[in-house]
Amino acid sequence: MCGIVGYIGSGKATPILMDGLLSLEYRGYDSAGIATLEKNKIVVMKDKGRVKNLYELEGMNDLAGTVGIAHTRWATHGKPSKENSHPHMDNSNSFAVVHNGIIENYADLKDFLTSKGYTFYSQTDTEVIPNLIHYYYTNGPVSILEDGKQKFLGAVKSAIYDLKGSYAIEVISSLCPEEMIVVRKDSPLVIGKGMSENFVASDIPAILKYTKDFYLLDDNEFAVITKDTIHFYDNSLIEHNKSLKNIDWDANAAGKDGYEDFMLKEIYEQPTAVRETIGSRFHLGEKCSFDDVAISKEYLSKVNKIYIVACGTAMHAGLSGKTLIEKLCKIPTVVDIASEFRYRDPLIDENTLCIYISQSGETADTIAALKLAKSKGAKTLAISNVIGSSITREADYSIYTHAGPEIAVASTKAYTSQVVLLAILAMYFAEILGSYPQEEIEKLKSDIIDLPTKIEQVLDNTEEIKNFAKKIYTEKDMFFLGRGTDYNASLEGSLKLKEISYIHSEAYAAGELKHGPIALIENGVTVVGIITNPDLVEKTISNMQEVITRGAKTLIITNQILPNANFDYVVNIPDTNPLVSPILSVIPMQLLSYYISKFKGLDVDKPRNLAKSVTVE
Ligand code: G6P
Repeated sequence: MCGIVGYIGSGKATPILMDGLLSLEYRGYDSAGIATLEKNKIVVMKDKGRVKNLYELEGMNDLAGTVGIAHTRWATHGKPSKENSHPHMDNSNSFAVVHNGIIENYADLKDFLTSKGYTFYSQTDTEVIPNLIHYYYTNGPVSILEDGKQKFLGAVKSAIYDLKGSYAIEVISSLCPEEMIVVRKDSPLVIGKGMSENFVASDIPAILKYTKDFYLLDDNEFAVITKDTIHFYDNSLIEHNKSLKNIDWDANAAGKDGYEDFMLKEIYEQPTAVRETIGSRFHLGEKCSFDDVAISKEYLSKVNKIYIVACGTAMHAGLSGKTLIEKLCKIPTVVDIASEFRYRDPLIDENTLCIYISQSGETADTIAALKLAKSKGAKTLAISNVIGSSITREADYSIYTHAGPEIAVASTKAYTSQVVLLAILAMYFAEILGSYPQEEIEKLKSDIIDLPTKIEQVLDNTEEIKNFAKKIYTEKDMFFLGRGTDYNASLEGSLKLKEISYIHSEAYAAGELKHGPIALIENGVTVVGIITNPDLVEKTISNMQEVITRGAKTLIITNQILPNANFDYVVNIPDTNPLVSPILSVIPMQLLSYYISKFKGLDVDKPRNLAKSVTVE
């Protein structure tokens, strides 16, 4: 939620800030703003709406400052409006702040500051921060007031000390124009190191074209940044050194490469993403291995329960993980939604392994759920796409999907690569435990190796799906049905449709239809049936007949030869092991949602009310 960028150097800040904001817009896009230091005075430009609207603001082109901060917002407190947009200033216009996260005790802090004579102009929680900094800068403890060099940092630290909640914060001040101060807790922030210039951003791709050298800020860590230096402090303001990470990503991978939308590009990147996820983690006839993780047989043999915890699409990938782990490893596995798991006192002990899946590695509920399991003595394993993301820094073990940056809000390649990684993990565990016949594991390996080519074959049928989308894009309700892993895939297909086309849709286990949802089937309602498991073909076909009898229009996604039936549309996909079939069956559903959204003229990459990275609970 919310993207922040910062620049301090010798060049003009505005183009770099705008460039960073545009690439962070997927984190929130209801308002945007920047603040730069112009001749030691802070100038703020902000407005509701998309980042590009900032270019229209009067005076924008005149900004020449070489120090600046910027923000693209996903509203939490206060509706999207110019007043509620960031940056926010204190009453004396000496401090400007951008913030990602939520200040839970802002009402108390607002009361306190109001009693001291401060006035508030927005409904945001953030506005307390610059005013608190100003308060401590002028009224702070003697130690802050007397030590000129530390005064700005001391005031920021005192203000931060009062905050409860989550935050990534950038502060600039007209009183200390050579410095920018940043701090974070439970919200991502990275610092990019340049030559006589430094950069700050919510995530690495936003500034990757300027530098490949990054510091990943930790929770409760402060950095004081000038154009030539970066100093790090803990929350007692004791200075410490930090190691620089070289991030070897291709900056171009974050561009659209000629595709109309990031979502379409990412759908088409799935063969490559899956190849990267497989990498050299296994070869036929050799055991699976992970470069950075080694789990002992002694530990794994004691594991009597696995939790897979995640949100949204990542949770849907987790459902395939459960099927794979239970089948191959014979360990009972529970999939849970992170926001539920963290508040329901789950039964965890040192023999529980908790796996957390998060594309971004920054989802607040998933991180909190991981911390909870750790506090109860369980080992934690993170699956993420973002190297060095918060979740991977908290977990005992981390493995990466290596799918490349995913920018579109609706997740596509992250899902398929997460399912592949879970399959490799299940095989890895099974080989350690000896819990599944090795020849069956070898067959599964060979099926997984074939997946990228088979995904390409599914993508060859794009026109077919587009035609179907054209026929149904004005509909109001849709249903997705499947059994077993087809049900898992149908959940993800239904989520994609809701997210980007705003069509109400439901996914049901096909056998559950009779227990209520069939009451909603009437003439013309579209029902998508997924049929890939040879053992369940007849069962699902019977369920589809039940909806046809009640007037439904049907689209079948299948890799089976079906008996002659009166389906309206059939999309054939290549055959594969049912354990990994969602990797193929989900693709027609991704494309269907994509084209329905396009036919409706919607913004595919930035659907209303959603954000890519949900860093608030
Ligand atoms: C948001 C995104 C979804 C994503 C979910 C979990 O809701 O819009 O696409 O699946 O967060 O994100 P994560 O980064 O933890 O996988």
